[in-house]
Amino acid sequence: MSVIKVAILGFGTVGEGVYRTIHSHAEELKTVLGKKVEVAAILIRNQEKQRNISGDVLVTSDFEDILKLPQLDIVVEAIVGKESPHLFLKKSIERGCHIITANKEMFAHHGAELQKLAEENGVSVGFEATVAGGIPVIQTIRHLLKVNRVHQLQGILNGTSNFILTEMREKKQSFAEALLQAQQNGFAEADPTNDVEGFDAFYKTMILSRIAFGDEPNWEDVERQGITAITRELIEAAETYGLRFKHVAQINIKEGELKAVVKPVLVNQDHPFYHVEGVQNAVNVRSDIVGGITLQGPGAGMFPTASAIIEDLVFVCQNKLADVPKTTGFVSDDKTLQGEQEYWFVQGVTEKLPKELTVVDQSVAGFCILKAAKKDLIWLANKEEVLCFPILGEIKLIKEETLDSVAVS
Ligand SMILES: NC(=O)c1ccc[n+]([C@@H]2O[C@H](COP(=O)([O-])OP(=O)(O)OC[C@H]3O[C@@H](n4cnc5c(N)ncnc54)[C@H](OP(=O)(O)O)[C@@H]3O)[C@@H](O)[C@H]2O)c1
Repeated sequence: MSVIKVAILGFGTVGEGVYRTIHSHAEELKTVLGKKVEVAAILIRNQEKQRNISGDVLVTSDFEDILKLPQLDIVVEAIVGKESPHLFLKKSIERGCHIITANKEMFAHHGAELQKLAEENGVSVGFEATVAGGIPVIQTIRHLLKVNRVHQLQGILNGTSNFILTEMREKKQSFAEALLQAQQNGFAEADPTNDVEGFDAFYKTMILSRIAFGDEPNWEDVERQGITAITRELIEAAETYGLRFKHVAQINIKEGELKAVVKPVLVNQDHPFYHVEGVQNAVNVRSDIVGGITLQGPGAGMFPTASAIIEDLVFVCQNKLADVPKTTGFVSDDKTLQGEQEYWFVQGVTEKLPKELTVVDQSVAGFCILKAAKKDLIWLANKEEVLCFPILGEIKLIKEETLDSVAVS
């Protein structure tokens, strides 16, 4: 084969970015692969739209036309939805093509099946672009896993939510105002549910879990919460404690089982996520030899996402993705096991609390910081008028008294 023939499914933000990058970086690709990379076909839905695509590329809305091409080596999927892209990728694998996808929703649902099918057919699956856009997080974890044992992953995986939280804090906006701003800047869709309710981050978390731990938790057991309950008042009160809200996905091992949570938490300035602002994403990986590593960068956008796809393209051509290290078992360094105490930022406590809950600070009216084991806090967190958010890491103690002696007003 003197030419590598690629089909791109979708010509939106991502698909067009891949097409343009294959052209703009043709020389680099040829040098690294020893072959020319050529876009042979593009799948779209709307034939009427004007697009800047070279006349020798097959542009079609029928996927079967693409399967009939005399040579097809790689199929890049950058469309939306779950079922059609899943079917297209299955057929591509059966035809003997390597596949690369940016579609996290589809891949969270069908990734394991596609990877198994690819293995049976001797082809590779690239999915770097499904998590944290241009940040090479999946390759980094694969690389680390060759010897390191990963204990825990934390990530800011949704740029839209991070942008909204940043705008609310910096510009003192309400959630609705910051969401509108995100929509006007093209960072949020007209229906922002997937982003602000945490579904997008949840899908990415499941993909990360599979790559880092070789498995994923039961989806129903994952605590998923978006950012819609965060108010300006909460953000301002947190700031007086030197804390910032971040929407964080966390995966670790508790009692030998994989656990994941996707929800708003608070971080102080010692945490690597404190300065991750706007549409940026970040992933912190903790493993036994190297300790903690944080990767930060653009989580979405035309060229950051194209970058992840093009890197995958090089890897699949070199057949490097077939060699996925298998995890050898779960290793835990979890600090919140069985009654281990954490710090909590709490709004709306009006009654006397049991002595298992220690008040660390209550200097801001209507709010307090508690130190407690999660199991002792659950009854309080379940109260409608109370909001509890975990604080990641240590905080500086201002004062420490038990609520036996101090009633929170
Ligand atoms: N945007 C980002 O920064 C980003 C980053 C990481 C991952 N992703 C993921 O990448 C995928 C693409 O995102 P995007 O932002 O590029 O979307 P987009 O701008 O909405 O573009 C989607 C493209 O797919 C085509 N399409 C959609 N459904 C199709 C179908 N059933 N058959 C054929 N073509 C179809 C559309 O065709 P028409 O042009 O004819 O409408 C359009 O060209 C999504 O799964 C997204 O979650 C996006």
